[in-house]
Amino acid sequence: MGKEPSTLKGRVVLDIEQLKIRRRQIGLSQEALAELCFRKRLCVSIASIKRAETGKPVLLRTARHLAQIYGVDLANLLVGSIPEQGDNGAPAAADIPDLGAERRPVIHLTLLSKATASAPLHGLIVERVRQFGGVVLEPDETRDTSVVLEACFGTPRAYSSDARRCLQCAEELLQIWKSKQPATGCTLIIGYREWPLDAERQMHCLASPSFASALETSSILIEQDLAHALSDCCVVTPAKLTGYVRYKQTQAADRNTPFAMAGRDLEVQQLKTVLATTLAYQEGHVVYIRGIAGIGKSRLIAEFVEMTRQDGVDCYAAAVLDFGGKEDTNPIRQLLRGVLQLESSFAEADRQLSARIGQLGLPADYLMFYRALLGLPQAPGDEQVYAAMNHATRVPRQLEALVALLVRESLERPLVLIIEDLHWADKALFDVVGRLIQAVREAPIIWALTSRLEQDPLERQLRNYLTDVPMTVLELGPLRGAAAAMLALQFRDVGPNYRNQCVARAQGNPLF
Ligand SMILES: Nc1ncnc2c1ncn2[C@@H]1O[C@H](COP(=O)(O)OP(=O)(O)OP(=O)(O)O)[C@@H](O)[C@H]1O
Ligand SMILES: [Mg+2]
Repeated sequence: MGKEPSTLKGRVVLDIEQLKIRRRQIGLSQEALAELCFRKRLCVSIASIKRAETGKPVLLRTARHLAQIYGVDLANLLVGSIPEQGDNGAPAAADIPDLGAERRPVIHLTLLSKATASAPLHGLIVERVRQFGGVVLEPDETRDTSVVLEACFGTPRAYSSDARRCLQCAEELLQIWKSKQPATGCTLIIGYREWPLDAERQMHCLASPSFASALETSSILIEQDLAHALSDCCVVTPAKLTGYVRYKQTQAADRNTPFAMAGRDLEVQQLKTVLATTLAYQEGHVVYIRGIAGIGKSRLIAEFVEMTRQDGVDCYAAAVLDFGGKEDTNPIRQLLRGVLQLESSFAEADRQLSARIGQLGLPADYLMFYRALLGLPQAPGDEQVYAAMNHATRVPRQLEALVALLVRESLERPLVLIIEDLHWADKALFDVVGRLIQAVREAPIIWALTSRLEQDPLERQLRNYLTDVPMTVLELGPLRGAAAAMLALQFRDVGPNYRNQCVARAQGNPLF
């Protein structure tokens, strides 16, 4: 893919009618047009074509490629442009899609009681909500008097981990209420709302005359839709309130799932932005997460994986192993197996490989490079051809085959490729990873890389390859007081004194 001068990185809006007429003239579907671009070595994903044809801004590069494919002057397609100042790889203001412009789901928590909470109890509740990463909403004049507190989790776009965090917070609030004000009951209600909240943010059921009688005290009620999304982590029973179920307990299997994410609000926010930007503008990005051992790099990656799944993005992970060096544990091989979704048996993997390469319309002579990368036996004729190639010929061709595969796969859906623990990698691996990232940077592929701070290779080994690739570096520091306390709160079986001691001793390192 050609190198793009940075002055051509702005955003433009194209003429919908013109685009449709042109596409009709050549008689191609959006999918076939994306494939045609790919064959002509122009990187235009299906999502970019859809965006352009619905009047949403696209990269100037995408516009130029479309003009080229239609054989027209770019000026004939343009209706407007969005200037861009950023030139250093970091997303500029125009790069970042306005998350507020589109309405997105967040998780809404309401605490209701017929009694008012004493001032210290109210203070404690607010503190806990914040510890669990919730935003406490200001009361407005229309608020029902039974509402003690309202909060939102996962702004400006919630993922299922935000819902789990909200549920854990609700459990904690119920316990606090029971211990501080046992004579009066309270009810917690959790559901989806759209962000930004509108004036009618209150639950419609509050206005219903039967509401008060349906409200079961000392319980957590979850909106049916949300309960469905949480079904793998909690057990519920029917509730009297229509459209809601009553939370009973945490699912036993949930013991194996990681603790709800504590803190890291800023980092999670940045990951949400990177994802939204990639989905909108369909260009590559590197997220580089670094920090000392046990600080939470893999935990943050797990959070990111969950987000990508919910956005329908394909996500594959690999790790550099410290006892590595063995070909079988090579991260490129791990990623390739993932992207091609291969079975473990050689024969089956080989069959799947050939079928997929045929389906994607990639040249059949790439097969020998994929086989070599995957550790599969070569086809009879290819064996000698491959062996006869010297290293200087083989390496660039292998890279070319890899690039073609990743770019082709990402035409249909963005890819997230994770490589963990880069501090263990050797020079050869940096060379492949660096060149690969550079070569696929125009495709909607997010690379999420992690490294320990000690011997961090970013500057020494990788930076030279990544000069023209948008990159976000997240440096994880210790968890701050409130976040560390929230993590400790998830250990239900230990007393508060022991919890506090642990928080103090760990000095912000979640591993301890
Ligand atoms: N913010 C967090 N919220 C909840 N749990 C966390 C958080 N950060 C880390 N943990 C937990 O702490 C432990 C160590 O974290 P993790 O494995 O992510 O560290 P790491 O930085 O990847 O370490 P390493 O360099 O050894 O790979 C894990 O059990 C993880 O689930
Ligand atoms: Mg790790």
